[in-house]
Amino acid sequence: MTPNPSPAPHFAIAIDGPAASGKSTLARLLAMRLGLIMVNSGAMYRAITWKVLQENIDPQDAGAVAGLLDRIAIQCGCDGMMSTIAIDGIDPGDELRGEAINGNVSVIAAIPAVREKLIDLQRGYLAHASIVMEGRDIGSVVFPDTPYKIYVDADEEVRAARRGDEGQIDSIAQRDAADSKRTAAPLVVAAGAVILDTSHHTIESGVAAALEILKQQGLAIIAG
Ligand code: CDP
Repeated sequence: MTPNPSPAPHFAIAIDGPAASGKSTLARLLAMRLGLIMVNSGAMYRAITWKVLQENIDPQDAGAVAGLLDRIAIQCGCDGMMSTIAIDGIDPGDELRGEAINGNVSVIAAIPAVREKLIDLQRGYLAHASIVMEGRDIGSVVFPDTPYKIYVDADEEVRAARRGDEGQIDSIAQRDAADSKRTAAPLVVAAGAVILDTSHHTIESGVAAALEILKQQGLAIIAG
């Protein structure tokens, strides 16, 4: 008797890049187009930052932040095709995009204990589904072996204008500098990643360009 072939393993598409480069929009549309789950890893770093601020813990106090991680339950899941995040049963929702979180998230994200904890949870999604995950270190650290990697970029003025259009107060240049200079999993173009500059793309032409890159990287894309 021939054994049943093992089910196809799940795969990850890694979308990395600086703040407001268009990663989230691209990742969401790719996930819709390809029938995958979209995982926003930034929301996880933002949720920890939200809890740190709620508890009046100094974000610079790495020991106290690590202690908090031992006390809280981080629940990662999905609602339809989108990832969800709750801390001790509470989903902070729109508060994750507030000014205080924008101003402190890069400090929290530089703490190795935070990264260790969240990277485990990020990898956990693959046990359940194939995913498009967006962030800073997805192609370099979280899923270094995936062949599907895109580094999304855009001119700094374009990115600042996009964030302003979203009505957010966000010093993206400061956040990018912190994310690129930190020791733990800095923002880099991962080995094997193709750079997609979205400065002069429409949303639709950016998605088409990304699908073309993924096809070149060997992803079987069903036309339609
Ligand atoms: O939407 P935007 O690109 O502005 O930010 P985000 O993806 O929500 O990420 C917020 C912050 O979380 C980043 O500035 C990083 O400091 C951190 N982050 C990270 O360190 N690693 C990731 N994989 C994702 C986010």
